[in-house]
Amino acid sequence: MTTAQDNQSPAPSPTAADSGASATVAFKQNAARRGVVASSQERVAGIVGDILSAVRDVIRSHDVTYPEYQATKAWLMAVGEGGEWPLVMDVFIEHAVEDQVSQSQNGTKGSIEGPYYLPDQPKLGATCTLPMRADEKGTPLVLSGQVRDIDGTPLAASEVEIWQADDDGYYSGFAPHVPDGNLRGVAVTDADGHFAISTIQPAPYQIPHEGPTGRLLEAAGWHPWRPAHLHLMVRADGHRTITTQLYLATSAYVDSDVASATKPELFIEPVDDGTGVARVTYDFELEKA
Ligand code: DHB
Ligand code: FE
Repeated sequence: MTTAQDNQSPAPSPTAADSGASATVAFKQNAARRGVVASSQERVAGIVGDILSAVRDVIRSHDVTYPEYQATKAWLMAVGEGGEWPLVMDVFIEHAVEDQVSQSQNGTKGSIEGPYYLPDQPKLGATCTLPMRADEKGTPLVLSGQVRDIDGTPLAASEVEIWQADDDGYYSGFAPHVPDGNLRGVAVTDADGHFAISTIQPAPYQIPHEGPTGRLLEAAGWHPWRPAHLHLMVRADGHRTITTQLYLATSAYVDSDVASATKPELFIEPVDDGTGVARVTYDFELEKA
């Protein structure tokens, strides 16, 4: 399998292979850190058995042909060879798992983690600026707020971790031209649970589309875009961690996220403060663990 590289473009053009391979490495490292928990034999047989029977039902109801079966097999192999399984899973499947798990979680709504979380980012103050290039493009954005228990108690020294795409839609760690750690960091709340993070507004994000995932989108006539979003992971001692995203309400694709991961409670509308800085407040509420 070859991957097209756009050498004509003046803007950097990281390939799907770059982000696919890096997403695979990152997933393996994160999984090792979290510990992968095996399910019981009963659940494996129940879940996998039902998945396989759903696939067989689709084959029957769509009268699937041999060439279609072989094309599917070739595509699955290419996804593996391109390291794109983390992308495929997080775009097409994770939102259903997140939705299911969040049924039992109170407080701020969660959203998918996606493939681009990287642990061990620097802890910054309660009022902080994310690490960024001296000439980082994009509208300056200040996200401020408070972390509280769902009973209203402010949570001091809680962690508001943020990671996001840059103004061109690229994530550090997954695009070689973006410096490591760019637009990633952990704000630690003050005595009143407050934080204020200075960053830039992210751009809509296009999932890697030169590889097998992109070929599938093209074949199905689906677009590859996610609306502009900030990723957040909010942690406090004794509380259930919330992994979520905030979406810029005026961004393109808010109504047609390829990853189906928007929720109305997670839209933000930053307002220009008159100096060219967009500001928005968002409070996080965590339930006890
Ligand atoms: C993918 C990328 C993201 O930034 C995200 O938030 C969700 C999914 C992806 O490429 O799979
Ligand atoms: Fe993302």
